[in-house]
Amino acid sequence: MVVKKPRIVIIGAGMAGLTAANKLYKSGVKKGAFELCVVEGGNRIGGRINTSEFGGDRIEMGATWIHGIGGSPLHKIAQEINSLESEEPWECMDGFLDDPITIAENGYVLNPSLVDPISYLFKNLMDFAQGKKKSIGNGIEIDIFGNGSGNGNGYASVGSFLRKGLESYWELESRKESGEVNGFGDWNRKSLEEAIFAMHENTQRTYTAANDLHNLDYLAESEYVMFPGEEVTIAKGYLSIVESLASVLPSGLVQLNKKVCTIEWKPECVMGMMGSSRPVKIHFLDGTSMSADHVIITVSLGVLKAGVFNKENNSGKFKFNPPLPNYKSEAISKLGYGVVNKLFLKLSPDFNLDVDRFPFLQMVFHKSDHHVKNPKIPWWIRKTSSLSPIYKRSNVLLSWFAGEEALKLEELSDEVILDEVSTTISSFFSHKKGNGNVKFDKVLKSQWGSDPLFMGSYSYIAVGSSIADIDSLAEPLPNTMVFESTSGSPPFQILFAGEATHRTHYSTTHGAYFSGLREANRLLQHYHCINV
Ligand SMILES: Cc1cc2nc3c(=O)[nH]c(=O)nc-3n(C[C@H](O)[C@H](O)[C@H](O)COP(=O)(O)OP(=O)(O)OC[C@H]3O[C@@H](n4cnc5c(N)ncnc54)[C@H](O)[C@@H]3O)c2cc1C
Ligand SMILES: *[C@@H]1O[C@H](CO)[C@@H](O)[C@H](O)[C@H]1NC(C)=O
Ligand SMILES: *[C@@H]1O[C@H](CO)[C@@H](O)[C@H](O)[C@H]1NC(C)=O
Ligand SMILES: *[C@@H]1O[C@H](CO)[C@@H](O)[C@H](O)[C@H]1NC(C)=O
Repeated sequence: MVVKKPRIVIIGAGMAGLTAANKLYKSGVKKGAFELCVVEGGNRIGGRINTSEFGGDRIEMGATWIHGIGGSPLHKIAQEINSLESEEPWECMDGFLDDPITIAENGYVLNPSLVDPISYLFKNLMDFAQGKKKSIGNGIEIDIFGNGSGNGNGYASVGSFLRKGLESYWELESRKESGEVNGFGDWNRKSLEEAIFAMHENTQRTYTAANDLHNLDYLAESEYVMFPGEEVTIAKGYLSIVESLASVLPSGLVQLNKKVCTIEWKPECVMGMMGSSRPVKIHFLDGTSMSADHVIITVSLGVLKAGVFNKENNSGKFKFNPPLPNYKSEAISKLGYGVVNKLFLKLSPDFNLDVDRFPFLQMVFHKSDHHVKNPKIPWWIRKTSSLSPIYKRSNVLLSWFAGEEALKLEELSDEVILDEVSTTISSFFSHKKGNGNVKFDKVLKSQWGSDPLFMGSYSYIAVGSSIADIDSLAEPLPNTMVFESTSGSPPFQILFAGEATHRTHYSTTHGAYFSGLREANRLLQHYHCINV
């Protein structure tokens, strides 16, 4: 009888999947311990990493930054493969552009003396929420849970915390006779301060992918871990890291255009009844199937949500047979997952601001419903906090969109986007003498929300969920610790990796990396391949 080697199938060739494949290949397959295969639904590797080109510049459609180089394994890889240097310019090569100019709707340039106090207030509030500071400062104290105990009921949001902070700031400020502002049309001091605050909230929406910060859990904010050190972009492109991980794999190991629709598994079976057949069967949309002993699932939380909860039309969706246990589907349902998109615009050659380059523009809008009064600026632009060149002298500009606005952006035609953005930006520069007209001749946007392979951009802890839900999501099925004595079913048939399964680094590329490593190590340990 031929003894079959255990077969591991990884679903998804993004950061998590390729990290797991890299590790399993080097530490297991090469030693003859098992068979390995990666199946990817798209026609390329990288997943939410998609380095592209626009207007002659290298840009990122998805992951952009290494969030903190201190301790980041991806920064280490980027250094090793020499990806942090390039002859050609790249997106955000100068880091975050400093010295923004802040302009309010209808073209009022705001003095830093008006903007900075609100920006500091916002930063102080976020630092406090993230546990970086023991007090908020400005004399502000907030009872976030609203019942005087300061004790969490677990349902406070970042959004409500921030707004309480602003209210409290105003209460303290009003005692200080802060003069009125003049010459700002239909703005007054309070509405300007509120709108500057909202601008920072909107930046926070793009960081977290939460459409509404009132749905972003407050307690989880301080449990999230950021690496220390600078944040950098990758000169040779984020994809160079993914390609480096994939480069150890023999050709054919990664199979593209293989979209999984159903995973059959065996949660219960009588010991010894399995025979020699593998417990998991993976069905593809093209009608083929593949059996496996272990499958590592790295599809996004959005793909899992759509498969588990879209009951009306489930054809082609990611399903489990039998369905996942309740605690799993509850975690999938409760955790947050949102849409963030990037919009790139190329300035037309006759762009003629009387400055020599486009500034780092921060935009202060009236509320979303204001487009009724000022229909030239549509609602979907009204939560865009900034527009800036991707490096100092680039004629390619970038804005980030989140939530509803990001989804709307996906369905708009290039013509509409060019037209409405250009009208909006020109009105912001209407204070410029001469030609304040800003024209663009090309546009490129990401569409992560409507892409069935992603269904959004990244995960967050929604109000009503917690890190415990991430732990539930990350738990393998069947888990030996739980099942050993009660079921003869083979352990670790389904393992979960991916950004959304990392309890302190979710939403990031390095979170995805660590999760892939975690599940690879779980199997290596199971087969006693660790340190062999
Ligand atoms: C606009 C944007 C900006 C971002 N910016 C940053 C940033 O600056 N820094 C940072 O650290 N992170 C950032 N991220 C997040 C980062 O990109 C992700 O956290 C990370 O890439 C996720 O990797 P993953 O392997 O978990 O998932 P994915 O990359 O989604 O990989 C999963 C793979 O599964 C495939 N798949 C899906 N369904 C199926 C199916 N049915 N069958 C087969 N295959 C399937 C997908 O095609 C995909 O390739 C950003 C993301 C976006 C969208
Ligand atoms: C990746 O970027 C290219 C643009 O260069 C785009 O055509 C493609 O649709 C992108 N893929 C995804 C999944 O966003
Ligand atoms: C406030 O809420 C906490 C947590 O739910 C609770 O323990 C505490 O008793 C409440 N305090 C008051 C004064 O109601
Ligand atoms: C279900 O969705 C698939 C693809 O997403 C589509 O082809 C099909 O027509 C839909 N069926 C119904 C009944 O809506």
